[in-house]
Amino acid sequence: MLKNLTDTILLSPSIIATDLSTLGSVVPTFDHSCMHFLHIDVMDGSFVPNITIGPGYIQNLKQHTDIPLDIHLIIEKPELSLQSFIDCKPYFLTIHFESTRQPVRLLQSIKNCGIKAGISINPATPVEQLFDILAYTDMVLLMSVEPGFYGQTFIPSSLKKIEKLNTFIRTNNCNTLIEVDGGINEDNIADVVKAGANVIVAGSSVFKSSDINKQARKLLEIAKKG
Ligand code: DX5
Ligand code: ZN
Repeated sequence: MLKNLTDTILLSPSIIATDLSTLGSVVPTFDHSCMHFLHIDVMDGSFVPNITIGPGYIQNLKQHTDIPLDIHLIIEKPELSLQSFIDCKPYFLTIHFESTRQPVRLLQSIKNCGIKAGISINPATPVEQLFDILAYTDMVLLMSVEPGFYGQTFIPSSLKKIEKLNTFIRTNNCNTLIEVDGGINEDNIADVVKAGANVIVAGSSVFKSSDINKQARKLLEIAKKG
């Protein structure tokens, strides 16, 4: 399962755009062939002005699905609670570059536990700041909105950032995936993929549909044209 991730476009629907109180009973209906991951935004009300869920909820949700988890820690000082998210055994565990003074140490701790380690940057952080530490990460998550809420508008300059990162990765033969998160929909997903993204997060553009599997498939079809 999930081999050669760089060769394909993967969709990671963001569950904060759905009803978290009923997700456990709905998630078994998700089609694994188009919902490749479940993107889980953990927010602490400090790094961002919103609070979502923690490791307890994630452990409970895991009982209802085999879809691999893509945990996005949007919290200050992730080192203080990292182990509790490692214990959730996600496929990807991503921290924010801006949230800690020791990103490399945390990435190493994640990788040492056999979990793919991701590093994320906000729209205002230049992507060049990650170039020196790409060797320690399996995935870069570029935020294409300010983190905190689903349903925001994609920031157009994110496309240049994806291209810049993609060029650096290819030039230096890095084994790093590019995930893009925020405001991605039918109108811009092909551009995001064309710029170099491998993993696409989609919240409202999947979950605000009445048939989420059909909508996820549609997004992927458009993405593959990118
Ligand atoms: C924003 C989150 C995103 C968000 C995506 O802080 O990191 O994952 O839920 O939702 P949409 O696709 O609606 O922007
Ligand atoms: Zn996210």
